[in-house]
Amino acid sequence: MPDQEIVVYFNGKIIPLSEAKVSILTHALHYGTGVFEGIRAYWREEDEEMFLVRAEDHYLRWKANCRILQIEPEMSAHELAELTAELIRLNHFRTDAYARPLAYMNSARIGVKPDGRHAFAIMVVPFGVYLPSENGIHAGVVSWRRVEDAALPARGKICSAYVNSVLATAEAHSHGYDEGIILNEDGHVAEGSTCNIFIVRHGKLITPPPSDNILEGITRDCVMTLARREMHLDVVERSIDRSELYVADEAFFTGTAVEVAPITRIDHRPVGTGQVGFITSHLRELYSQAVHGRIADYESWLKPVYQPVLESLRR
Ligand SMILES: Cc1ncc(COP(=O)(O)O)c(C=O)c1O
Repeated sequence: MPDQEIVVYFNGKIIPLSEAKVSILTHALHYGTGVFEGIRAYWREEDEEMFLVRAEDHYLRWKANCRILQIEPEMSAHELAELTAELIRLNHFRTDAYARPLAYMNSARIGVKPDGRHAFAIMVVPFGVYLPSENGIHAGVVSWRRVEDAALPARGKICSAYVNSVLATAEAHSHGYDEGIILNEDGHVAEGSTCNIFIVRHGKLITPPPSDNILEGITRDCVMTLARREMHLDVVERSIDRSELYVADEAFFTGTAVEVAPITRIDHRPVGTGQVGFITSHLRELYSQAVHGRIADYESWLKPVYQPVLESLRR
């Protein structure tokens, strides 16, 4: 990591992180009225290149989710992805990194009424393994229920909804689990605290549908694509009962931060053999290869950060 201070994008300017300040009265700080994203970039040492993963898809989701709060980032998804690549270049990152776009209500006063004042930021930070999971993790169902769409849309990546994730994570950790599994109000499995969930039963890959109050994960989409195209698996989006977790042959989480994380125990019961399953380990490897630019068919998922600039310098 470079010695110089990280620079961030904040309200139209690129400035040092320490200068990107907000008022203590900021609407979003009190009421959680922000919408964020999380985008990974992987460094490939052998050719000194960095790849942003599905950056435009993340920004399309961000812009769509901002509409829930009637916030409108002006830039297009393409421009935002370019700006993120530029921030990584300005920070000279030569290691895996994470970009955190944030749009929020920034009026500085008391009162929930929105007044159309919005602010935008994109931060990039070096970022390694978030949830060590190579040999499988222990997940546990927590007592908190997933936020309901009619109250606080889980698909929205809205700041205030992450209190639900924080409570779930804290409870899971206090019980000794590596990650929590949250049920929705119907009692069906929704997702992990910051990740989607898949199980394998009878050779089929099963994951809850968006209508079960999940975040419509981009890693989930990558894994469904890889499972269908590379492994010719049946992928089924349907509700999952809690007890199905206990009889599943395999289970894993997906997410930008957790990547593909095998689950080998749930609620103190082994999942299948209690070892990382064949389908899980295969998908984990395929995903890792794809996001490091090692499978030509999925290069369209990646945005090279340094190469376009080097090419333009050579011209
Ligand atoms: C609640 C929740 N579910 C699922 C995910 C996975 O989504 P993605 O794969 O787009 O990162 C995330 C990660 O951002 C999340 O916060």
